[in-house]
Parts: sequence; C-alpha cells; structure tokens
Amino acid sequence: MTGWLLRYDGWDPAAEPLRETLCALGNGRFVTRAAAPERRAGHGSYPGTYAAGVFDRLADEIDGHRVENESIVNLPDWQSFTFRVADGPWLDLSAVAVTDYVQELDLRRGVLTRRFGIQDGEGRRTRVAQRRLVSMADPHMAALDCTLLAENWTGPLTVRSALDGRVTNDGVARYRGLDGRHLTAVDPGAGAEVLTLTAETRQSKVRIGMAARHRVLSGGTELPVVAAAVAEPGLAAVDLELAMEAGRPVTVEKLAALCTSRDPGIGEPGEAALDEIGRAGTFADVVARHELAWDHLWFRCDVEIEGSVRATLVLRLHVFHLLQTVSPHSLDLDVGIPARGLHGEAYRGHVFWDELFVLPFLNLRLPEVARSMLLYRWRRLPQARAAARATGHRGAMFPWQSGSTGREETQVLHLNLRSGRWLPDNSHLQRHIGLAIAYNTWRYYEATGDTDFLTEHGAELLLSIAAFWADVATYDAVGDRFDICGVMGPDEYHDALPDRDEPGLDDNAYTNVLAAWTLARALECLEVLPPGRRHELLDTLDIRRADLERWQHVSRKLRLPWTEDGVLLQFRGYETLEEFDWAGYREKYGDISRLDRILEAEGDSTNRYKLSKQADVLMLFHLFTADELYAVLDRLGYPHDRRTIPRTVAYYLDRTSHGSTLSKVVHSWVLARSDRRRAWEYFLEALESDIADVQGGTTGEGIHLGAMAGTVDLLERGFTGLETREDVLGFDPYLPDALRRMRFRLRYRRHTEIEVAIDHQTLTVGGTASRATVLPLRVRDKAFRLDPRGSLEIPLRRRRPD
Ligand code: BGC
Repeated sequence: MTGWLLRYDGWDPAAEPLRETLCALGNGRFVTRAAAPERRAGHGSYPGTYAAGVFDRLADEIDGHRVENESIVNLPDWQSFTFRVADGPWLDLSAVAVTDYVQELDLRRGVLTRRFGIQDGEGRRTRVAQRRLVSMADPHMAALDCTLLAENWTGPLTVRSALDGRVTNDGVARYRGLDGRHLTAVDPGAGAEVLTLTAETRQSKVRIGMAARHRVLSGGTELPVVAAAVAEPGLAAVDLELAMEAGRPVTVEKLAALCTSRDPGIGEPGEAALDEIGRAGTFADVVARHELAWDHLWFRCDVEIEGSVRATLVLRLHVFHLLQTVSPHSLDLDVGIPARGLHGEAYRGHVFWDELFVLPFLNLRLPEVARSMLLYRWRRLPQARAAARATGHRGAMFPWQSGSTGREETQVLHLNLRSGRWLPDNSHLQRHIGLAIAYNTWRYYEATGDTDFLTEHGAELLLSIAAFWADVATYDAVGDRFDICGVMGPDEYHDALPDRDEPGLDDNAYTNVLAAWTLARALECLEVLPPGRRHELLDTLDIRRADLERWQHVSRKLRLPWTEDGVLLQFRGYETLEEFDWAGYREKYGDISRLDRILEAEGDSTNRYKLSKQADVLMLFHLFTADELYAVLDRLGYPHDRRTIPRTVAYYLDRTSHGSTLSKVVHSWVLARSDRRRAWEYFLEALESDIADVQGGTTGEGIHLGAMAGTVDLLERGFTGLETREDVLGFDPYLPDALRRMRFRLRYRRHTEIEVAIDHQTLTVGGTASRATVLPLRVRDKAFRLDPRGSLEIPLRRRRPD
C-alpha cells in the first residue's frame, strides 16, 4: 500500500462485492463497478454501470399496496470479457488453480489493474494482465486491455468480448422482491468488427447507445483479427481467435463508448457511441488523455497527511470516488449528488441531504461543480413549491429523497431484515433537507463570492425555502414562541413521541436553529441583491412587507427545548424518554449500530429511549462555529455561556449508536476543539467506513459519499478551523497530536491554487495564481495579507483545549 495504490492480494470471491465498489471506475458521467470482466451477476459478482441521472420508475405490489420506486438504472455491461484455451471451458477463477492474483487501483492515474496466473486441468499455465479505465478525459469512453501469455503451451485461444444487455437491477438483496427490469428494446447489432447495442429504459424512455471495437497486438505490432459474431439475445459479442505461442504475449484492446439520450452535445445515442469509438484512437491514446485529465484534477484536489501513508491513501480514495461521482463532466447533466455514489444500487441512486458534507469540498476546489449541484435543486423548485402547497404551505418544500423530477422518492415502507416485517417509513418528515439546501446555497456564495449565481438562482432558492419555514412555524401566544411541529431531525431513530399516534416531532432543535438561521440569511440576501432583482423576486414569489416582518419575527422567536442544566434538547419531550441500556444491549448483540432493527424485532421501539442513530443536535456544532451559533442563540433570545456547547456535546456523546457513517465525521468535528485525542480516534474510525466496510456489507451496495467527503472536509476545514466568511480566508488550526503535518491546495474566490501546509508550529500559505489581488487572511485573531505569488509563514502557538 502506498499513498496512491489500493492493492488487494489473492482471489477472494467473498470479498468481491466490496472490491467491486472500492475499485469502481468513473468520471462524473458514469461509473462502472470493478467486477471481474469474465463474470456475470451472481455468486457474489455484480457488474454494474450507472450513468448520472438515468433513472426509471417501476411499480410493485407489497402487502396489497402499490409501491412505486424510481431507481438509477443498471446499464449494459461494457466490460464483459473472457477467454478459453482451445475448446476448453471459459475462464472461471473458481474452477482453475489460481497461482497468484493481484488487483491494484492506481488512484493517481485512475487505472485498475489485475494480474494473475492460472493453471488448468491439463497443466497449461497462462498469465493474464488486465487494465481498465473509465475516461476522465473523454466522458463517454471506457477501455480495457488484456495481455495473455501462454507460459508452457502453444495453441488456439478464443477471447469473447461483449456488450451485455442482459442485466437487471439486482444488486441489493432487500430490493430483490421488486421489479428490477428497467431495460427494454435491447438490440444488439450484428457486426463482429464493431459491437453495438442499443436499449431504452422502460418508463423514463432514456435511449442508451453503446459501441465497442477491438485490436489485437503482439510485440507492438497489430495482428489481423479473426473475429466471429456471437448471436445471443441481449448480447452483442464477438469471438476473437488468437494463435498463442509459448512465451509470446498477445494483447487485446477493447474500447467502449456509452451514450444516452440525456447527454448534451450528441445526436442519436447509438450513432454517437459509434462516433466516439471511431475517433478515440488506440488504447494508449485513451490512457494518455485520461491520465492527463486526472493529473489536472489531482493538482486541484490532492490532500496529504505527511507521515501517514494509510490515512493519505484512504483520503485520496475518498477524493477519487467523489470526483468519479461528480466532476466537471457532470456540469450540464442536471444531476445531484447521490448519497451512495454511482457505485451501486443502495438507496436507488437518490439524492439526500448528504451533499451538505460534499459541497464544502467542491466549493473550495471545483466551485463550478458545486454550482451545478445547486442548480439541480433550483430546477426542481416548481416540484418543491407544489409539494409545499399540497401540505397547505407557502414556499418550497424539498423532498427527503430526490431523483429525476424532484418529487418525493422516499419509500413509504421499509423492510426490517431482522424481523422480516415491512414497516411504515416516515423519514420523508426530514424536512430539514430544504434547510440544508439553503445552507449550501449561502456557503457556496460565501466561499466563491459568486453574486451572479446568488442573483439569478441562489436567492430564489433561499427565499422560497425561507417562505416555507416562516409559514410552517405556528405561534404560541402563551409562551410567545413559534413552534415547528410534525417533523423529524437527522436522527432517524426518532419519528414520533412514544405516546403519540401520529408521526413527527415538535421543535427539533437542529431544524429550528437552521430555520432561524435561514430566515436571517434570506433577509440578508435581500440586502445583497440589486434592487431591480430584489423587487422582481419579491413580486414573483409573492413575498410582501408583512411576510418579511413575519420572517424577522419567526427568526427571533423559534422555540428551542433545553434541560434545566442548559443542555440543548433534541426535540420537545426528549427529556421524558427513558435512558437506554447500552451495556446490556452491547453484551447481547455486539454490534448495536442498527438499534432500530434490533428493537423493532423485539417488539420495542427506538422512540422510547434517549438514543440516536447519528448526530442530530451535534450537527449544529458541525455546521456552525461557536460564534455563529451563539449569534443565532442571541437572536432567539436564549441565554448561553461558554460551556453551552461542550455541555451539550458531552450529553449526546454516549447516547449515539453511530448507525449512519455520517455520525463519526460529525463527532470528530465537534470534539476537534475540546478533545483532540478522541477527535482523532473518531476521524480514524470515519476513515474506515468504506475501506473496511464497517457496516458489514453495505459498501458492496455503494460508497457512503457523505462520509467520504466529510473526512476530507474534516481535515481541511475541521482541524484547521478554515472559514470563508466576511471576505476573508480564516484559519484557526487545532491539529490533533497524531496529525503532524498536512498539505492541500484550494481555491478561494478569485484566488486559485492557494497552497496550504500546516503543522503544529507553522501555517504556510502561498502560491496563489498570478493575476489575483491581495488575499486577506485571518489566523486566529490576527489579520494578514498575502500578495499574489507570495508566501506567508505564520507561527502557531500551541493552544489549550477550549
Ligand atoms: C442516514 C441519512 C443519510 C442517508 C443516505 C441514512 O442512513 O441516516 O442521514 O442521508 O443514510 O446516506
């Protein structure tokens, strides 16, 4: 393992689902799981290719209810590639002796390599070396090459390469009872020289076009290809006959193109795919362009912890998968950030609030990509408005899970695998999703200073979301406070009070604080807008003076529940819940992260206890600095002292089961300033989420993109105290002891290529691009100015924990 190479030794079919996800290849337009190319779905293998935004909606019947699900569609498998010696069996690593096996993902170059040796029943030894990529330069292209070496035999070998349209959505066991046949009109072309395959999604009618061509080489010379088309339904395949000689390697190159009718800049997808492979050049040409594109991305996006190869590797793996899910190639696709990447079928490719953990990284690296993710939301404002209206409210109410149209995609039922029961799913009550969108919009604006975006799109998002919350809040004249009722916070283990029949909680502190903050930012945004645009928006959105007065009022009067000792409570009534027997349950079950399933299977409910799936109140200390949070409390008229935050953190620390991978990121963050050792431990645990598949199998169904991006953000903003408010780039470093020195490069407003290096003694900032003006910096309480192309070394005094 180096800081760039993820390596697996040995062929281990049981580990394949995890490796397929962690070694998946993509470019922000489509991602292909790293299934062994010779295997079809089954026996632990799951080839999957998903194009951003290609969804399809199908209906099923569960327990007499019609249930609709919109899913990211598994597209035909372009990788399919196998061989056999003479007329022996096709390659099956489980049926031959595998003498050695190495799989390596080179993160720097974006190339996946597999090298292995096999010996068949007749003693023939063959060596195989395969490389694969999904091009970061040519967004429709993927490529595979395979070098075969007959070690001790001479004779014929047949390679069978295909575009396999016989795929379904079958990657997640708990969805298997549901219809997963999303492709129709699968039409393999008849050619042998060039393979073609077209298909269409059943309901959304997205047309898919694929094409592939091959070259055979030996000793650097291209050999004439003896190719025969294979006729099988749903499969465009070719057999290439090779005459192998002992000791003489032969390479087969496969270039494949994938186009869909959602792609900008193309005509008919089938023809476009043919065009693409026609002009792609050779495998070497494709690799060269691809490596260059990755090189450029890494220049902007690399992070390094000096002295820690493993942590650096894992962080780079996280950046790698983030950039494979969304990249400059996503810009015109009208797509959001799927919580599980485009790496598997968990959560059906839906977009949740997880972008809250992803956008900070993009804001400071690839702001144009962040902007395009916000535009995905902006385009869905009409749906969000309709959803608000349907519940009797003004403004815009965004869905907890979003897909193609922006309608609510959250399931109404979910299956508890432990009890086997289908249960009502109330998680759509996580209305805080809209607040996350407002938060992201404002933070994007702060980090980039992109007033054009704010004026044209961002303000409309912010105002529409603010209008919803001001309308939802109800006034309680007795307490002279506003309440927000019937919602859920981020903690999905609480969807109702134990003694109440209807779902939803009142005055979730996370929601109320964010709502107050959003209303204040919406009012501030009006000040920033040019007067003409301000009037235009207020007119169009029908926001009157009286409404703005109400916004002021609500933003100062939302209720927050507290204990008598000044701990911020998760929601009203939380104090009446029972303490949970953590030790007893740990002893009984070992892993208790999914307490919802455990307790339901016992006939009990998480709603009864003081426990949470993930950070809820603590999210506030992740999203806001202490100063910002105290400013909100001041605005709301709640007294606080220096200990309010540490007291509240301490209260929830041991009441969380970390049933979501997001939870440890947040816990590390909130402890960064008070308990560096524990913060570092949580950071290391968060790093393991996917690479070690800590949830015992969920990574095989897709990465956890929020946690991946969150760990990088933790390093870059959490431990450095990096802030982008008030036109100044601020730092307030607080490095854990184990973190000796780290380096990264970022972009702040017009200042591109800012190099940052931090250790316990010094913060070095420098290298901004030439034409930018002076960059104002704040380090702790001191102001500095960084000249263009200058560099500053700022000594840091060690600080005591807050
Ligand atoms: C978490 C949510 C998250 C979702 C998608 C759930 O398990 O509780 O907070 O948005 O996964 O990642």
